[in-house]
Amino acid sequence: MVELFPEGFEEVEFDADLELAAYGDAGAEERFWHFFGPGSAVEVEQGWEEAWKQFHRPVRIGQLWLGPPWEEADEDSISVVIDPGRAFGTGAHATTRLCLELLLEQSRTSVVDLGCGSGVLAVAAAKLGFSPVFALDVDPEAVAAAGENARRNDVDIEVGCVDLFADELPRAGIALANVTREAIERAAGRLDVSELIASGYLASESPALSGWEHVDRREAEGWAADLYSPFESYHLE
Ligand SMILES: C[S@@+](CC[C@H](N)C(=O)[O-])C[C@H]1O[C@@H](n2cnc3c(N)ncnc32)[C@H](O)[C@@H]1O
Repeated sequence: MVELFPEGFEEVEFDADLELAAYGDAGAEERFWHFFGPGSAVEVEQGWEEAWKQFHRPVRIGQLWLGPPWEEADEDSISVVIDPGRAFGTGAHATTRLCLELLLEQSRTSVVDLGCGSGVLAVAAAKLGFSPVFALDVDPEAVAAAGENARRNDVDIEVGCVDLFADELPRAGIALANVTREAIERAAGRLDVSELIASGYLASESPALSGWEHVDRREAEGWAADLYSPFESYHLE
């Protein structure tokens, strides 16, 4: 829903049922039908464009505060202000939070964020003192959003439009990859990093990565994130 309806959506639970309502124009209605099949559409009152903001709530992960520009950051926090625009990554999704939980525990080194979306992970990494930080995505809208969020947070990040399966990837201490299990399995052999923080899949799944040692795992809300380190033969140094 986040990816399909960045304009906003609502999730309401009734006993055993879940109602999903997407806010949008005729294009959003078409996307809804395409992905979910028949639904019902009603006219909503003027102002729906702003109403979605109430669903973009701040989250706290250790010392990090992640929230939208219209919310006030906690005074005792390291703030990461994210306006995702049309890109994925408000910071509130369990996979993003789990990646940050693992990142917080790592020594400060260079980071490459593969599939950066809004740039939330890359901006948080830069704010935490990781340097240099690369934020890469195949979607030009995500690259633009990541650049804007870097400026908004006054951090220096190298953003780029890069396909992680085809283009050259920068060498870094840590790769962050909140994509899909299949994408991680496909791209792992192309990485020149000392640690990989992977997510984007369910807790029932684990990427099959040969040449990588599994070091740690975090789970939340049915999602998982894993920390891997390459076996000696994969260190290119
Ligand atoms: C789930 S979002 C993650 C956003 C953000 N990193 C986060 O953790 O919230 C996955 C991102 O991966 C990007 N992506 C998908 N396939 C890619 C590829 N082959 N190369 C680079 N980026 C890709 C998508 O465009 C999307 O922005």
